[in-house]
Amino acid sequence: MKKISIIAAILLPLLPATVRLAEARPVTDDMGIVQQDDAKMKWFEDAKFGMFLHWGIYSVPAKGEWFMENKKMSPAEYAKFATDQGDGVYFDAKDFNPAEWAKIAKDSGIKYMCLTSRHHDGFALFDSKHPNAFTSVQTIHRDLYAEYVKACRAEGLRVGLYFSPIDWRYPGYYDVTGTNCVPNKWHYQTNPAHKENARVMKEEVYEQVRTLFRNYGPFDYFFWDGAWLGQQGTDRDGAFFWEPGKYRDPANAWPVGKEYSDQDETGRDLGLMGIVRKYSPDIVCNRRSGWIGDIKDEEGGKLVTGPVRSDYWEKCLNLNKPSWGYNDRQNLMTYDEIVRYLVDVVMRNGNMLLNFGPDRHGKIPESHAALTRRVGAWLAKVGDSIYGTRGGPWNPVDGQYGFTCKPGKYFVHLLPDYAGTEFTTPVIPGKVTGCRDLFTGEELAHTVAADGSLHITGLNRTAHPADTVVMITTQDAAK
Ligand code: GLC
Repeated sequence: MKKISIIAAILLPLLPATVRLAEARPVTDDMGIVQQDDAKMKWFEDAKFGMFLHWGIYSVPAKGEWFMENKKMSPAEYAKFATDQGDGVYFDAKDFNPAEWAKIAKDSGIKYMCLTSRHHDGFALFDSKHPNAFTSVQTIHRDLYAEYVKACRAEGLRVGLYFSPIDWRYPGYYDVTGTNCVPNKWHYQTNPAHKENARVMKEEVYEQVRTLFRNYGPFDYFFWDGAWLGQQGTDRDGAFFWEPGKYRDPANAWPVGKEYSDQDETGRDLGLMGIVRKYSPDIVCNRRSGWIGDIKDEEGGKLVTGPVRSDYWEKCLNLNKPSWGYNDRQNLMTYDEIVRYLVDVVMRNGNMLLNFGPDRHGKIPESHAALTRRVGAWLAKVGDSIYGTRGGPWNPVDGQYGFTCKPGKYFVHLLPDYAGTEFTTPVIPGKVTGCRDLFTGEELAHTVAADGSLHITGLNRTAHPADTVVMITTQDAAK
């Protein structure tokens, strides 16, 4: 049974009719692969906070990961960022020490990491043997991805993978049928040869996904990005081409050669998610492959509002707002903003995947690390109200407050816009045995009303204004 429905079964009769609880989560296993089972999702739901990392040769021009497209650069011109052109300014990764990244993550209270293995420019940080592959092994003789995976594991962090099927190096990406080229920055025109070009692009994706899962896995988490075609429509619209499901269709018009394919135990050719789940059956995967996945992603800095959500979900956003990839323009989230987003997400049953953009040397800027380490220091005190909790059981009030809970514990999160030093909770199920400020550790004066709601007074709103966390324990709390 779903955790949320257990909580619902216990609490529902006790709650006022006005308090709506999240419904049970949907199970959308319509294509033969078990997913969204709670046991598999538990670590993810408990973890709450992940580190996203966009790192590639776009860190050289330092204007974000869409640089190649924004500047309409030819693949040959763009590729120069990968090697020394005589001025020493290239993707040298000389300070890349993934153990340091993992340490920043741990100090920041982050539980899983997710590094781009290749972005839309097609540059891979791993060792791919496809003839068209463009990799760090070729340019700087380093398998950066192997180093990253090893470091995450050594630090006991969950290991996540990001992969983009989009590849701007192939004109066929904009014209997969060879009959209908969509508008693009490079002014490629419709050309029958594009169909074969697109097929080779697909083959490279199959070889690379297979390589990552065979040689670097198992992975805990997967962020697919951009299975759309020609940057038009949806990921689902591109599914006829990529074949992101469990199996491929032998009659598909863009066949993948045997040497780049993977099969199930009966010899049947696997589609992209078929390969993923063959090697990492328990992986938690987003829904951007063009096929079903486990979690819904919400991208960008829009404020998180509304009731507790019933679906598995994750908010990804940028610590340095201008772009995902390294940018010499610095406009960092503030400490209060990071806390606000994290709490807003967790109160609504989600996770936050906070993005870092290391520079061309592989360094996470000091100022970025210092900021999230502060968040980690706060989490070291109030982590009980975040990790392993579920949102609710009562719906939050946007911008004011919300709740998290775990057996026998209820946490009230008061945001800066909530005014005052008193708070009245909804009806607390069970006998209240304690009430304190989790950050300061101070006991809080409270009275229990006849209906079982708790009136708390003397709240300290200045010790940590970004979020005042009150922990209410009941006799059901684990000893
Ligand atoms: C978008 C962007 C991409 C970024 C991603 C992160 O799809 O194209 O640059 O990697 O979002 O969610």
